[in-house]
Amino acid sequence: MAQNPQGETPLADAIVLFGATGDLSRRMLLPSLYFLDADGLLPVGFKILATARAQHSRAEFVDQVLKILAARPEGVDDGVWARFSERIDYVACDATTAAGAGELKPHLQGRSRPMFFLAISPSLYGRVCVALAAAGLAVDESRIVLEKPVGRDLETSREVNVAVGAVFSEDRIFRIDHYLGKETVQNLIALRFANTLFEPLWNNLTIDHVQITVAETEGVGERWPYYDEYGALRDMLQNHMLQLLCFVAMEPPADMEPDSVRNEKVKVLRSLRRFTRAEAQSASVRGQYTKGVVGGREADGYEAERGQPTGTETFVALRVDIDNWRWAGVPFFLRTGKRLPERRTQIAIQFKAVPHSIFGNAAKDDLVANRLVIDLQPDEDIALTLMNKSPGISRGGMRLQSMPLSLSLLRAYEGPGSRRRIAYERLLLDVMHGNSTLFVRRDEVEEAWRWVDGVADAWAEAGLAPKPYAAGSWGPSGAFALIERSERAWLD
Ligand code: BG6
Repeated sequence: MAQNPQGETPLADAIVLFGATGDLSRRMLLPSLYFLDADGLLPVGFKILATARAQHSRAEFVDQVLKILAARPEGVDDGVWARFSERIDYVACDATTAAGAGELKPHLQGRSRPMFFLAISPSLYGRVCVALAAAGLAVDESRIVLEKPVGRDLETSREVNVAVGAVFSEDRIFRIDHYLGKETVQNLIALRFANTLFEPLWNNLTIDHVQITVAETEGVGERWPYYDEYGALRDMLQNHMLQLLCFVAMEPPADMEPDSVRNEKVKVLRSLRRFTRAEAQSASVRGQYTKGVVGGREADGYEAERGQPTGTETFVALRVDIDNWRWAGVPFFLRTGKRLPERRTQIAIQFKAVPHSIFGNAAKDDLVANRLVIDLQPDEDIALTLMNKSPGISRGGMRLQSMPLSLSLLRAYEGPGSRRRIAYERLLLDVMHGNSTLFVRRDEVEEAWRWVDGVADAWAEAGLAPKPYAAGSWGPSGAFALIERSERAWLD
């Protein structure tokens, strides 16, 4: 993207929000823009041009935005709202045609650096880009933001990338993975590369294994028309979970420049051991929730929500091996599922046990190997468990206990006016500034699909159908067997 004489990318001067009446815009994007404005982070004159097919006047849409913001716990500040509402404009159009996209043009008069955010079905990405180009809107300093999923497999992902790439150069394409906007994911980079403490230990000499869990209590519900085509592997693992794995496993990048970081992530993706039919059976588990109880409330099974039998998985657990020098012999256990007993997103780095205990019989069962646990949700926390002496004296020799050294981000940052940011705030701000470090590059998304396609193919070859698990449980029993096979256990 063109830079000014100071070497900076000029700030975007407008956002065009496609799918402005949809769920993502209502829950995440419009509130994020409001909070950026509240913090003084939207440039003067920055415009929010909302568009969708639904016919609304500008006044009606602005009123809807106010209702969305007022329903949030943070409330609405009159002064900020006065400024924010002035920025909003609304145009009803069919942006997949040149004529439709052309209707946006008069509303962008005087703006030369718009950012287009496609919060619409990925099947429309290519057509909208062509329409933007035909309407003369895809100008040099414009940028485009794509929500996941970029494709359903390697082939369809390439189709989307080619279609969008025909209009926008790669440095102007921002593929969002909202997990990268989460504070703790960025903190992982700080933890690894802003401390001398961990990096020398961050390898197969000291680390026994890694666990990454993304557990949700919510079911699929009304999202089944999308979800049924994707399942947990493609909806969560291909993107969010592989991204977390990359940040844990990548080599130190030279700096925080977009390509430095993304080159390292691509190397990790290329080192993932391909799945074969044998691994499908021994190193993976697919599950689908049936009726059960979550958080004290009865929940339907997925097939009841879907209305008919389906072979889509709502749970997946995998053992992933990274074939490189740093990680050879260190398994990464990944699991994600819907309708699990609790909402938890967590990365656990399990260190090896001490090679020999000097503490004798009394403390035989006390010794626990160190563990670094990074919680992303529901609370943000980083805790390192260390062994120390149990207080007091006893005749039978020293007793030990495991204690967490905790960096509770909630406690550290809480104070008047503090709040937990929506992940999209950071990401929208980065697009505005043209910084793509926290976005997924084309080769990255395609490498992730290549590997995930291998898993899906191995499942198909092995005829691996999802095993039922009751809503409110931790998935099928096979998920426990998967990790216990190597004499390890999930951290529950
Ligand atoms: C989305 C998935 O990308 O991430 C959803 O499509 C999932 O199925 C959601 O529920 C989870 O996001 P978060 O931020 O709530 O962990």
